[in-house]
Amino acid sequence: MQARAQPTPNCDPAQIAPDLLVWYDANARRLPWRVAPGGLGTDPYKVWLSEVMLQQTTVAAVGPYFAKFTERWPTVIDLAAADDADVMAAWAGLGYYARARNLLACARAVAAMGGTFPDTEEALRALPGLGEYTAAAVAAIAFGRRAVVVDANVERVIARLFAIDEPLPAAKPAIRFAAGQATPDARAGDFAQAMMDLGATICTARSPRCMLCPLRAHCRALVDGAPERLPVKAAKKPKPTRTGRAYWIERDGKVLLVKRRPSGMLGGMRALPDDAWSARSDGADALGGTWQTGGVVRHSFTHFDLELQLMLCGAAELDNLPAGEWWPVDRIEAAGLPTVFAKAARLAIAERDAG
Ligand code: ADE
Repeated sequence: MQARAQPTPNCDPAQIAPDLLVWYDANARRLPWRVAPGGLGTDPYKVWLSEVMLQQTTVAAVGPYFAKFTERWPTVIDLAAADDADVMAAWAGLGYYARARNLLACARAVAAMGGTFPDTEEALRALPGLGEYTAAAVAAIAFGRRAVVVDANVERVIARLFAIDEPLPAAKPAIRFAAGQATPDARAGDFAQAMMDLGATICTARSPRCMLCPLRAHCRALVDGAPERLPVKAAKKPKPTRTGRAYWIERDGKVLLVKRRPSGMLGGMRALPDDAWSARSDGADALGGTWQTGGVVRHSFTHFDLELQLMLCGAAELDNLPAGEWWPVDRIEAAGLPTVFAKAARLAIAERDAG
């Protein structure tokens, strides 16, 4: 935090990139999907894969998933040839499962084009499931194209540099415009990644370390005295709490798992049978039978919190079993359950072992 008045900042946006790139050359984080600053030899497949994984997820969480994916599927052609179920299971725990479905659709489109990623933002944007952010990031980082790359870290840095105090999300166009003014023609990929590193390590959300910032001479929020106040965020709507049930049905050391329908929440993933809870409503399709009530799993999704009541019974006590596969309980970690059901499975096993 900076309380003291600062000198008038250098407001020429073209001056930002040179200072930032000098800092990046010395301070770039070494990340598995990166080459050294200014370096050649970036693999567009790795850039694309990492950028899809990094949306809504932290660098720390992505590391092991990136390693697993690139070891198992070293090229986009390998990924395109993978079974959907294997990819969905490998993605389990990263969340936002539509990203995994889009990843496969995109890999298959690139494979159909001979396995080479297109090298312009526009052509990348035409691939299935590849959005504005990913197209800009891949064009800049993998192909050195000038593209304006704005993620949450960049948004914060730009809002502060230009003292944009309109609340998000309404401020997005102004932030994008300012980011465009600051983006250089050369080294746009390094510039984007430098902004991300600055946002992650110095221009952090709560306690920015302005004394160490290579852009302090350009920062209008610093002059105003309270950069940590920016960006302003519109008040969030309170999250509703939904309730639902998940069913643990066991037979001979195996548990019944279902495949969720292809689209919608956790679409295409293996799961425990449930009573069709959703973001909009509590679960209502209860499974008939004689159940023992287990514990409650709490899980937070982006737009709602879920309280999932665990219901346990042996298969013999059920007349109508849902269609699914019997999975060995002692190998449940390998089923690739999304986190909410992995939590429920751990609880069911702990309760079974305890009682
Ligand atoms: N977040 C999203 N993309 C990133 C990248 N290329 N480097 C660091 N953090 C990121």
